[in-house]
Amino acid sequence: MTRVLAVANQKGGVAKTTTVASLGAAMVEAGKRVLLVDLDPQGCLTFSLGHDPDKLPVSIHEVLLGEVEPATAVVSTSEGMALLPANIDLAGAEAMLLMRAGREYALKRALAKLADDYDVVIVDCPPSLGVLTLNGLTAADSVIVPLQCETLAHRGVGQFLRTINDVQQITNADLELLGALPTLYDSRTTHSRDVLLDVADRYDLPVLAPPIPRTVRFAEATASGASVLASRKNKGAGAYRELAAALLRHWKNGKPMPTFTPEI
Ligand SMILES: Nc1ncnc2c1ncn2[C@@H]1O[C@H](COP(=O)(O)OP(=O)(O)OP(=O)(O)O)[C@@H](O)[C@H]1O
Ligand SMILES: [Mg+2]
Repeated sequence: MTRVLAVANQKGGVAKTTTVASLGAAMVEAGKRVLLVDLDPQGCLTFSLGHDPDKLPVSIHEVLLGEVEPATAVVSTSEGMALLPANIDLAGAEAMLLMRAGREYALKRALAKLADDYDVVIVDCPPSLGVLTLNGLTAADSVIVPLQCETLAHRGVGQFLRTINDVQQITNADLELLGALPTLYDSRTTHSRDVLLDVADRYDLPVLAPPIPRTVRFAEATASGASVLASRKNKGAGAYRELAAALLRHWKNGKPMPTFTPEI
């Protein structure tokens, strides 16, 4: 059975794309057949995995509009994940989908045609709550919200949770909100911890473990065209491996996701 995970937060720069690439690489290491989906017209996931968004013959844009078979748009990456790539064309797909019936289901329909080929699909949502993110959430079994541990991280969380609730009411009753994933976490200061305590206190939202530490390796990885897991021995990669293992256990035998309790 294929599991579809959406990584979403309308706030920009919270490590959605980094999380998608790193979890994907970790799941390949764990022996899974993984498809990553770039739903962001900026094409950052596509670029960070070594493909030039401006040189794609076809992309997810044509797939969502039903113009090509999904499999024809899939490309491979050096770390073994398959990728449905995106480029700026996707900005136009958003407007074109708005005029169509069942517009929230375009990705779900496409993935149904690919399901037999993959164990896990991970969707990188754009930093907005528009029709593309609704497609990601409608196609997903589970969703994770990366949360950067900085002041005002909670802003927008309420609106995000209302969107999840709408999706559960209208297009995807089975969507499971796994929780917030603390990213860019600095364990040496109390600030990251205070931000998490504040969010956990305000919203009924589990905080997942382990938090992803802030390390310069991530910027290096993006520039190199491979995920952070390709550079051995760094604590960011270790955290993503641990999270990937927890997700696979959760899907396999319903084990609850580990949660993070900041020490006071
Ligand atoms: N754990 C980390 N430590 C240090 N830098 C990180 C970490 N995770 C991500 N970054 C960096 O933070 C920046 C934003 O990350 P990323 O692109 O993954 O965020 P995003 O949520 O996908 O952004 P957008 O909303 O624009 O799509 C990138 O430069 C990335 O390299
Ligand atoms: Mg991104």
